[in-house]
Amino acid sequence: MSQPLVIFTPSGKRGRIPRGTSILQAARHLGCDLDSVCGGRGICSRCQVTPSFGEFPKHGISSTEMSLSPWNETEERYHRLRGLEPGRRLGCQAQIIDDVVVDVPACSQLHQQVVRKSLDERTLVMDPAVRLHYVEVPEPDMHHPNGDLERLLIALKEEWKVEELDVDLPILRALPKTLHDGRGSLTVAIHQDHRDLQNRLIGLWPGYFDEGLYGLAIDLGSTTIAAHICCLTSGKVVTSSGIMNPQIRFGEDLMSRVSYAMMNKGGSAQMTQTVIEALDELFLSLAKAAYIRPDQICELVVVCNPIMHHLLLGLDPSPLGVAPFALASAQSMTVSAREIGLTSLAASSCVYLLPSIAGHVGADCASVILSEQPHKSNKRTLIVDVGTNAEIVFGDKSRVLACSSPTGPAFEGAQISSGQRAAPGAIERVRIDNRSKTARFKVIGCDLWSDMDGFADTTKVTGICGSGIIEAIAEMRLAGLVDKSGLIGSPQQTGCDHIVPDGRVFSYRLYESRGPGEANIDVTQSDIRAVQLAKSALYAGARLLMDEYGTDSVERIVLAGAFGSHISPLHAMVLGMIPDCPLEQVISAGNAAGSGARMALCSMAARREIEALVPSIEKIETAVEPKFQEHFVNANALPHAIDGFPELTKR
Ligand code: FES
Repeated sequence: MSQPLVIFTPSGKRGRIPRGTSILQAARHLGCDLDSVCGGRGICSRCQVTPSFGEFPKHGISSTEMSLSPWNETEERYHRLRGLEPGRRLGCQAQIIDDVVVDVPACSQLHQQVVRKSLDERTLVMDPAVRLHYVEVPEPDMHHPNGDLERLLIALKEEWKVEELDVDLPILRALPKTLHDGRGSLTVAIHQDHRDLQNRLIGLWPGYFDEGLYGLAIDLGSTTIAAHICCLTSGKVVTSSGIMNPQIRFGEDLMSRVSYAMMNKGGSAQMTQTVIEALDELFLSLAKAAYIRPDQICELVVVCNPIMHHLLLGLDPSPLGVAPFALASAQSMTVSAREIGLTSLAASSCVYLLPSIAGHVGADCASVILSEQPHKSNKRTLIVDVGTNAEIVFGDKSRVLACSSPTGPAFEGAQISSGQRAAPGAIERVRIDNRSKTARFKVIGCDLWSDMDGFADTTKVTGICGSGIIEAIAEMRLAGLVDKSGLIGSPQQTGCDHIVPDGRVFSYRLYESRGPGEANIDVTQSDIRAVQLAKSALYAGARLLMDEYGTDSVERIVLAGAFGSHISPLHAMVLGMIPDCPLEQVISAGNAAGSGARMALCSMAARREIEALVPSIEKIETAVEPKFQEHFVNANALPHAIDGFPELTKR
């Protein structure tokens, strides 16, 4: 009798295997993606499958309940204790007797596909650097003396084909007790380096450990730090949180932090310690919020600009303050969390840093590229990640260029007379009526517009945030209250009662205080100047990349970053923050740097992709490009002194 035929769906992997082979063994033999942590002992349930029964003319077989061995003791016990969905079998227990079709559900696939974004349905194939393996280690034998570690290595080799394994001292210290507590059985977390495939033992738990492994994706910005805890099996974000970067007290922008390091002995180390302490605190609170123990977090992926990169690693950032802006190392790297001073996580947790692109163009920019994939686009795409420093990328599948531009904190509401961070009470949307020149607005935390019933009774107006100031100035320009040079007209010139004298210039009163405890909110001439400086730096950076590429036009614009998600594309274009482009082609990507960090956390293939791509990215240093100044001056006008905006004009 011929051997039974097994067909796995959805992979389509098929082949004949000896009768009595378990589904798990058959899957391994045929290269089908079926997970297992316990090695077939019926403990982990990661090997769950759904056999399909019936006639399959397409495959030329009929698959019946008799095609598999009956439900066994182990499955019964597992079902009793933890439950198995109807129709499911444990792949390590069910043996193949006859031709059969077996479906491997997504949750049992080792390389699960995770839909990363609902809009474009891009998927991420789970391929994390850390995996769990359950092993049973033989008892010590005084006639064949072998240490605990050696016996573990033999067991791992025999059962999981793990050949070489680095083990550091904290893990070795924990091993004897773990073996004792688990009566010889334990679960290990093994980190595999995606470059040389070297394995490192980074976690140990007695017996079978099934509480899950997690990783942290961190976007370490100069102003804010955002962290997301992700499940390393499903790729899902379990919880996220953000804090202000406490290094702000040493300098608001990056260059002032470099100056602090240069002018104060021990200043660099002080800033390193400050950020490490803040990260430890953030990780502990995130783990608490996610109901997981810190030792379940076994890897961190960090994306940041070059100066934050150096300050995180305890490297001197001074060389980044002057040309040629030399990085200590631009390469991606994996270091241990303890090595850089993080104490909140397991002793052997790893930290992976994406590669930097250039002295001023960091791993955060590389992460945006990994997330947004301009190198695979047919359209000439401009990506701007707006923050205190803007990361700008331009290109398509033929070439990709990148630079960063010092926009300053105006887009984040700083340096604005009534500016504040995007928080409840901040004005975030503004519309000015063309005839009456009166403004109506929305504040964060309230769904009502300011001219609607109930707004005044329920809402406290505290200031204006970055997206609010952009809309306010753009609306002032559209309503004829501000000329092309950015100058606010007088009440006589504009016919507007809301224009108020402010020294030798004028301001526009956006909101009149309702009494004590509230202040007037004005858009002043200096506010407009601050935004003009910021937007000119952004536009000039984009223009430099377009020059280098050899084009005057952009086919698609991606606004990234937390702020980028809140900007109105129309108002950004009226202001001349971004070049002209069909408005429907301006999209918001949310926190693209954080999204790229999450991709790198969940996928070794993503790490290899960005590492291979970065050397081919063309870098432009805005600080030493002679044309930057010219573009900057021309971009000062609203929207621009020379460049046309035909698509905007159509609107
Ligand atoms: Fe663990 Fe089947 S492989 S239960």
